[in-house]
Amino acid sequence: MNILVLGSGGREDALAWAILQNPKCDRLICAPGNAGMEAMAECADLDICNGGAVANFCEENAIDFVMIGPEAPLAAGVADRLRAVGISCFGPSAAAAKLEASKAFTKEICAAVGAPTAAYARFTDAHAARDYIAAQGAPIVVKADGLAAGKGVIVAMTEAEALAAIDTMFGGEFGAAGAEVVIEEFMEGEEASFFVLVDGESCLPIGTAQDHKRVGESDTGPNTGGMGAYSPAPVLSDAIADMALEQIIRPTMAEMARRGMPYQGVLYAGLMIRDGQPRLVEYNVRFGDPECQVLMMRLGAQALDLMMACAEGRLDEMAVNWADDHAMTVVMAAQGYPGEYAKGSEIRGLEACPRDSAHMVFHAGTKAERGRVLANGGRVLNVTARGATLAEARARAYDMIDRLDWPEGFCRRDIGWRAL
Ligand code: AMP
Ligand code: GLY
Repeated sequence: MNILVLGSGGREDALAWAILQNPKCDRLICAPGNAGMEAMAECADLDICNGGAVANFCEENAIDFVMIGPEAPLAAGVADRLRAVGISCFGPSAAAAKLEASKAFTKEICAAVGAPTAAYARFTDAHAARDYIAAQGAPIVVKADGLAAGKGVIVAMTEAEALAAIDTMFGGEFGAAGAEVVIEEFMEGEEASFFVLVDGESCLPIGTAQDHKRVGESDTGPNTGGMGAYSPAPVLSDAIADMALEQIIRPTMAEMARRGMPYQGVLYAGLMIRDGQPRLVEYNVRFGDPECQVLMMRLGAQALDLMMACAEGRLDEMAVNWADDHAMTVVMAAQGYPGEYAKGSEIRGLEACPRDSAHMVFHAGTKAERGRVLANGGRVLNVTARGATLAEARARAYDMIDRLDWPEGFCRRDIGWRAL
């Protein structure tokens, strides 16, 4: 089969790696890709949010299956376009991608099916939003309705912070994404991510993970896209995962189908767990980054079979073949991230790191230039390892980090602290 992966982050590098483990893959193209993907597959320069351009590329290159990594092409309707011309692809329609692209939409669906989540109200008017905050008090959470590159959520510990967030959002900071604002009850607890494949009807859980959003050790400093992850997440026990499936995910998926927008792809449920009960924080319509890296490390070659079955509506025939293992990924970022950072520094020592089913350095923001690998983004490498225990996976990951020679980069040294 000829397979196309859309995206250029660590998530897509891990997807490409897992796909290449599967003998069904004859040819793999990544668009636009990065230095890691360039080393293992072909890369193509393609506007991945342009459905027509992607469909033409697929026809020209006899692509049989498209794996869509990020949310932007999904929200832009690339999956709809591909399916309309008969190309099999993994990822929801633009209508179903609203589960990530509109927080108000998700809250409304949750309310319709009684899925446990934070109480909320939605506003298009700043005065009404301010009055609501004054009545509710802090802590309280203010969210831009639309996609805001992960920056549209303010967890306000004081009323003043919440009011400032209202000014920012209605002031146009997030453009159209902030024209409507959702204000939510602050939920306490421990967060974890639950990944479920959905083929419109059947739901198949494929793993749990925990991310580390803050840039600094002991979860301090500003929020990032994620500085490291591990799988499984012990806080998401089988019993709690079952509750999340029965009380939150299956009812949401049934409601989406009932409304004529069946969901197909991976559903990433961010959950808040407290006193043994899960509540929904948010849905994403794609794999998490860096959570995908640990899931792919654990699933390996079967990931492609699962994703194809998902795209073809055959999930009820599938089972996940679990190994009793653990995986961890540590993000190496450019100094300064998530603020300003420089691009172009050289990363050395990659060849000193093992590459096998227990060790992989996935590339995120990198580019290849005359045989050298250069930093080309904020999050640059995802140093990923698998082990019989989380402690073993962690030791392997940090051993690889110690072999790398990249003084312009940094990482957190405490990934996995909650579980260890
Ligand atoms: P989101 O983009 O919706 O995942 O929000 C980003 C982060 O904000 C989440 O991962 C949580 O850590 C936090 N958050 C969002 N909503 C709430 C809430 N209602 N209560 C507490 N924390 C929240
Ligand atoms: N790591 C968080 C996310 O992908 O949204």
